[in-house]
Amino acid sequence: MPIALGLAACGGREARPQAADMQKAEALRPGDAGLAEKYQRSCLICHGAPASQAPLTAFAPAWEPRLRQGMPALLAHVRDGFQAMPAQGYCNDCSDDELERLIVFMAGAPTGANQ
Ligand code: HEC
Repeated sequence: MPIALGLAACGGREARPQAADMQKAEALRPGDAGLAEKYQRSCLICHGAPASQAPLTAFAPAWEPRLRQGMPALLAHVRDGFQAMPAQGYCNDCSDDELERLIVFMAGAPTGANQ
């Protein structure tokens, strides 16, 4: 199982999501119904599943190094695609504003206001 071992080793460096983190990532939705619908049919497929190698929704250790890039870089990566992350995250009808709100939600809004 070289792939599983590789993933475990990689996850170990930045804290690996536990069962509770995965349940949280699967259960959380943005508070806004329209945004929640878009999140559910696009981002959740990967960002709710650690096996996809996408940073898990609301799992802070996975987001900290990414947030350091700043919102403009994150938004550009979502809009244009970034390595295994597809352009627009499969949400072709998401505006930049909506993508930005999705990023804030997925990275774990500090106030919890989006949950
Ligand atoms: C097909 C799977 C997939 C879907 C769908 C997807 N993502 Fe991703 N996303 C990824 C992967 C994999 C990465 C990690 C890319 C890397 O760092 O190699 C990622 C990374 C990101 C990042 C961090 C980029 C960075 O610069 O570090 C953000 C922000 C993000 N996704 C937002 C979204 C949003 C918002 C949606 C929904 C609109 C979405 N993603 C949908 C797979 C996906």
